[in-house]
Amino acid sequence: MAAATEGLLVRTCKLSLSQTRNVHQTAAVCAAAADTAPKIKTFAVYRWNPDVPEKKPFLQEYQVDLKKCGPMVLDALIKIKNEIDSTLTFRRSCREGICGSCAMNIGGVNTLACISKIDTDLSNKTKIYPLPHMYVVKDLVPDMTNFYRQYASIQPYLQKKNPKPMGQEQNLQSVNDRKKLDGLYECILCACCSTSCPSYWWNSDKYLGPAALMQAYRWVIDSRDEATQERLDKLKDPFSVFRCHTILNCTKTCPKGLNPGKAIAEMKKLVSGVEKKPAPELSN
Ligand code: SF4
Ligand code: SF4
Ligand code: FES
Repeated sequence: MAAATEGLLVRTCKLSLSQTRNVHQTAAVCAAAADTAPKIKTFAVYRWNPDVPEKKPFLQEYQVDLKKCGPMVLDALIKIKNEIDSTLTFRRSCREGICGSCAMNIGGVNTLACISKIDTDLSNKTKIYPLPHMYVVKDLVPDMTNFYRQYASIQPYLQKKNPKPMGQEQNLQSVNDRKKLDGLYECILCACCSTSCPSYWWNSDKYLGPAALMQAYRWVIDSRDEATQERLDKLKDPFSVFRCHTILNCTKTCPKGLNPGKAIAEMKKLVSGVEKKPAPELSN
């Protein structure tokens, strides 16, 4: 190859290399710019203040930059409270789906704000309401008085005819009998299920609702508990358990993946006498 042609080739190559570098640099600058551009998401949050009762409840909109916010809806609510509006009121504690405090209705679904990912579609507002069909204390805080009263009514503790001296002997239970409590004891009493249940909406004064009933079943089926008949007798009326019409909203919404609808179905069999509680595999 002639020296002149070789030189031309080298120059052309150098030129296209620098052009390519420019293109890459421009792309990198654009990407960096896009990366620092805010990602503004709108949250429309239910507000009601008991100190201003004449003002009707309304939805208040807040804009949050998702680039500067954690991934969960509770992160956004905490950011709003800390940086935009300290009057916004909601419950939370563990922020890991254990305490049940942050139950609310997010995008039409009863769930826990701390384990609910923010919908990153910026064109969609995320609407947040308190749990439905409950009295509201303030903003996203529902009044749980009736719910806890119903839970207390099922006597959620071990009952023995002849209790052993506390702390001195074990209440024995076989491995198989213990397994019967799986899927029941994990309930965190968040009330997402009960407040999604149409029967509970209309009869929450007399129908116990899926959360309390699942816990009632948890104690009825426990091989160590000896108050079984008394527990079942208390539920023998048209409302306490039989107002469940197996709509299964409860099971669909449970943020812990539990199945209160199934527990209620098992409970109905025991209350109506169609089935009997099996004898314990280990006696105490
Ligand atoms: S069953 Fe699920 S939804 Fe219902 S109270 Fe328990 S954890 Fe919450
Ligand atoms: S299955 Fe029973 S408790 Fe669950 S939502 Fe339906 S009616 Fe309510
Ligand atoms: S903060 Fe405890 S469950 Fe959400």
